[in-house]
Amino acid sequence: MIIALTGFMGVGKTTISEKLAKLILCKHLDLDKYIEESENMSVSDIFAKRGEVYFRRMETFALREIVLRNENDIIVLSLGGGALLSHENQEIIKKYTYCIYLKASLSTIITRLRRAKKNRPIVNEISENEEEARFKELFEAREEGYNNSASFILDVDNKSIRQIVDEIIAVI
Ligand code: S3P
Repeated sequence: MIIALTGFMGVGKTTISEKLAKLILCKHLDLDKYIEESENMSVSDIFAKRGEVYFRRMETFALREIVLRNENDIIVLSLGGGALLSHENQEIIKKYTYCIYLKASLSTIITRLRRAKKNRPIVNEISENEEEARFKELFEAREEGYNNSASFILDVDNKSIRQIVDEIIAVI
């Protein structure tokens, strides 16, 4: 069983996945990290040097490789916030994983991402006065992919990491 965690940038996918994997004693993979290791380059550098289209192609390639290699194992897989923009990726996730959408409200996303945008491509160059409108636009572009792929939607607003992990354990 592959438990995939999706959701917008800054909702805590990686932290929650790591904690979940530790508690249920299984392997954790992070799609962004997997790409960074196979490309030997950070996600920021891939965006800067090769462009977003290249990165998206790598996401599909890596995702396919991960699900096929781990089809018969129990693993937790955290996805990048834009990985489900692609219909192809949505189909892979629906076919091979139990996908949990960590859903935060737009206001939570705006607050968190304001603090965490510095090291993230796509959002790192958004000026302060454009933040609300641009974060909303990005969120709306990704939301359909999350909803379309999720086996379970979990509200994360005002919850601790431990609480979220416990709620995940209760449904898997
Ligand atoms: C992206 C989200 C990032 C990372 C890349 C693109 C996006 O992942 O994959 O910078 O387009 O939403 P996180 O959601 O883990 O920050």
